[in-house]
Amino acid sequence: MSLEVRGVSKLYGSVKALDNLSLTVPDGNFTCFLGPSGCGKTTLLRIIAGLESADSGQITLGMNDLSQTQPSERNFGVVFQSYSLFPNLSALKNVMYGLECRAWPKAKAKARAMEMLDLVHLADQADKLPSQMSGGQQQRVAIARAIAPQPSLLLLDEPLSALDAKVRAELRSEVRKIQQDIGITTIMVTHDQSEALEMADQIVVLRGGQVEQVGTARELYHHPRTEFVANFIGTINSLAVEPNDKGSLMFGSAPLVVPDSQGSIRKLGVRPEAVTISSSPAKTDNSLAGIAKTVRFLGNYNVVEVAPDCAPDQIISAELRGDLALPSEGDAVYVNFNSEQLRELQA
Ligand SMILES: Nc1ncnc2c1ncn2[C@@H]1O[C@H](COP(=O)(O)OP(=O)(O)O)[C@@H](O)[C@H]1O
Ligand SMILES: [Mg+2]
Repeated sequence: MSLEVRGVSKLYGSVKALDNLSLTVPDGNFTCFLGPSGCGKTTLLRIIAGLESADSGQITLGMNDLSQTQPSERNFGVVFQSYSLFPNLSALKNVMYGLECRAWPKAKAKARAMEMLDLVHLADQADKLPSQMSGGQQQRVAIARAIAPQPSLLLLDEPLSALDAKVRAELRSEVRKIQQDIGITTIMVTHDQSEALEMADQIVVLRGGQVEQVGTARELYHHPRTEFVANFIGTINSLAVEPNDKGSLMFGSAPLVVPDSQGSIRKLGVRPEAVTISSSPAKTDNSLAGIAKTVRFLGNYNVVEVAPDCAPDQIISAELRGDLALPSEGDAVYVNFNSEQLRELQA
């Protein structure tokens, strides 16, 4: 069922945790709420779960207005960052717990719990206590427990953040696969852009309690609306530009060839991997003379930072494939990019 959030606001004292926020999570979709610490991700997830109430706004799941539904009747699966298993219960009993609370007969609950443990590849660990399992295994039990009662929505708040890098990487694809296999509408909160890029069908970038941009990973990467999104998902060179009275867009003292655009552009973004470096002028739309300030050798790719002569205080970073020749620091070079690689960035 699709989830609809409309005009939700939440104040804590004078802190606007959520500010008239609206979004849609389509049926069967894996949506990530992505944003820096304090932007309101957990507050929004907790309001959707019914663990917190909104000051205003409306949330509906399918045809149901959730404000009319008690949290216990929502039948949502929830997993938090901290392992929240009952320490005195085995993996199996932990998964069975929610089913027995819902009055499933014991035999049926046990069969379902085993099926869920099998789904998260822990069938052979059913009798272990949480303390006898690794963090990754405990989180898999927590996920099995959350999905066992066939919830209509799965809510995950940074479920992988406490795990070490290798386990986190494995669980990303595993959680995604389980979600796709059972087709459950899922929201996962994360501050980790690579996690969102890898796992989500749809990413909602939050900033200061508001939606900054919604899109697929590709849309956000290739068409960031603002500098904030461009720098949160990857990195970008932001070039401050000024229109002159002849209708050219000036980057310092040089006019730039830019894409057609409505409105007055003040900031243009270009991804470092879209920039090339050469020792003589290139045939790109823009080829600016400058000085290589820093050259960083990173192996499979390398980074060269150039101070362009036309705007020496606006350093442009180029990310170059590892097999390409590098200038030396202090060399006179050209920094090159095409107009179709430039993105207009709003404040
Ligand atoms: N229970 C609370 N009491 C007071 N302020 C809170 C409470 N919960 C969250 N906040 C504030 O609301 C804002 C959003 O917090 P949160 O939703 O936890 O952000 P995130 O999960 O994105 O890090 C922050 O400024 C935070 O300090
Ligand atoms: Mg949080």
